[in-house]
Amino acid sequence: MTDQISPSHLDGDPNWWSQASIYQIYIRSWVDSNGDGIGDLRGVSSKLGYLAWLGIDAIWLSPITRSPNSDFGYDVSDYIALAPELGNDSDFEALIAKAKSFGIKVFLDIIPNHSSSKHPWFIDSRSSKASKYRDYYVWAPPKSDGGPPNNWLDGTGSSAWTLDDDSNEYYLHNFLADQPDLNWWNPAVHEEFEKILTYWFDAGVDGFRIDVAHGIYKDRYLRDDPIAIADVMDAPFGVAPIFSKNRPEVHGLYRRWREICNEYDPPKVLLGETWVNKPETLARFFGDGDELQLTFNFGFTTSLFEPTAIRRSIMGAIGGLPMGARATWTGSNHDISRFGSRWCNKDKDKIKVALALIFMVPGVSVLYFGDEIGLADSDLDDADLLDNMSIQARKRIGNEKAFLRDRVRTPMPWNSQVNRGFSKGDKTWLPISDPIFGDVEEQIADHSSILNWSRALISLHSEISLDAKIEEIVFSPVQWIYRIDKFLVNVTYSRENLYKTDRLGFDHLELIMTSLGMDSHGGDAKNDDLASHREPVVRGAGEEIPPGLVGVGPTDEAHLEGPFAVEIYRIIGQPNDVR
Ligand code: NOJ
Ligand code: CA
Repeated sequence: MTDQISPSHLDGDPNWWSQASIYQIYIRSWVDSNGDGIGDLRGVSSKLGYLAWLGIDAIWLSPITRSPNSDFGYDVSDYIALAPELGNDSDFEALIAKAKSFGIKVFLDIIPNHSSSKHPWFIDSRSSKASKYRDYYVWAPPKSDGGPPNNWLDGTGSSAWTLDDDSNEYYLHNFLADQPDLNWWNPAVHEEFEKILTYWFDAGVDGFRIDVAHGIYKDRYLRDDPIAIADVMDAPFGVAPIFSKNRPEVHGLYRRWREICNEYDPPKVLLGETWVNKPETLARFFGDGDELQLTFNFGFTTSLFEPTAIRRSIMGAIGGLPMGARATWTGSNHDISRFGSRWCNKDKDKIKVALALIFMVPGVSVLYFGDEIGLADSDLDDADLLDNMSIQARKRIGNEKAFLRDRVRTPMPWNSQVNRGFSKGDKTWLPISDPIFGDVEEQIADHSSILNWSRALISLHSEISLDAKIEEIVFSPVQWIYRIDKFLVNVTYSRENLYKTDRLGFDHLELIMTSLGMDSHGGDAKNDDLASHREPVVRGAGEEIPPGLVGVGPTDEAHLEGPFAVEIYRIIGQPNDVR
């Protein structure tokens, strides 16, 4: 399947990222090459052929540099040296070379908001108020009552300030106390990170996903954050982080970083982890085309998977983009519940619809590893939990509200061998859950699998032109039909409400994919037309559409509870003259 794949068609294109499919690899959980139970760089290299087969244009690797692993790589103790448990320099070079041979680009994660408390900068900074590194971090004296300088909260819901007894000053940490925030008001910090960016770009990295991209600068006056109002997304503990994060000065930083990116040919790419709610706030991160090329659109990720909400989120995100900018779509990542659970309640049909909505859109689509086989959140015993941030947050805000991130970090199930092909070791760092819809090997062999569905969508995604827009054709509470470029996407929320697409005035539509008739709903079809197309799931171009496939006309009844379905048609003929 794998090694004869030719380099991606995007190779050499300076705008290769514009309509890319990116695959997020949480490296500890993807492939373990040496049996220590932890995924690693060699493991990634060994499976790049799989990603090429899937049609992936770029990978984003979760952090790979040295870390005490309080937050598994997001607490960095060296921004250049690799984490020994993940591999060495030659493993990294081999990965870059192999990725290149497949035409797969490589994003690393950069963590400029904070380092580890074990980073030599912080150790020195803490050693004395006179340290050369003191101002690399945010230090402030206690309030008159001895308490922390302000009301800012960290990622666990506790005060974001920890007192250093020796100097009687507090240091700031927006995440764990082991993750002191860097002080971006200090030009020396800028210089350090410019060196870090350049180091990795020169080593062949194509871009960075920027951790906490909206949060790097803090208010110069350390003003209290206000109580959260409804439209603040990143406010899990009821306080709106408008002073502890989200400061406008960050845009100057990104303009500078973009200049560095543009010194390369093709230019390097920046993808921000931008937890902001409003499309207009997100738009600012593109600058005038001189800041980040890409920004995660978490308004989509956190939308309800409900017809009106998801459509509004997609259309709103596209509408809010500045001229020429591309949206970035994702359903899951290593911090939040997987969409297979969160949106789809482990329903195979809904997972297929969700994947279609992630890919049949203009812009960049990002899969979190395992989403392509429909992984759901794992059920773990408390004894297995390792993620400090969510364990501490759970203590503070209770089981219900705190999502346990370990549940989406369990290793990838590749096949039926020991440890599901993830590792040959005796024990894996987190336990492996059984995949509901089969492992990778099983799904490769099953043409109606979620994996083959994902692969077909990734291929269509790459056909969408860079100036494609969504043109809405039908929208009702039970139906959304839109045209994107040469495709017509028919999202239905009830089997009874399939729209007769032959009424839409298109000259000729060729059905190329349908999620309908999946086994999970076998036997409950309400009419013969539906029952007749249980078989075909992914159709090759040029195949005839069997009669009756366009279904029945709409009824007045809304069945919002009903299964979701999606059909994708190719518009044949004169696309500009179809209506
Ligand atoms: C966002 C990352 O995605 C998350 O995993 C991490 O814990 C925080 N930033 C802190 O780095
Ligand atoms: Ca390993």
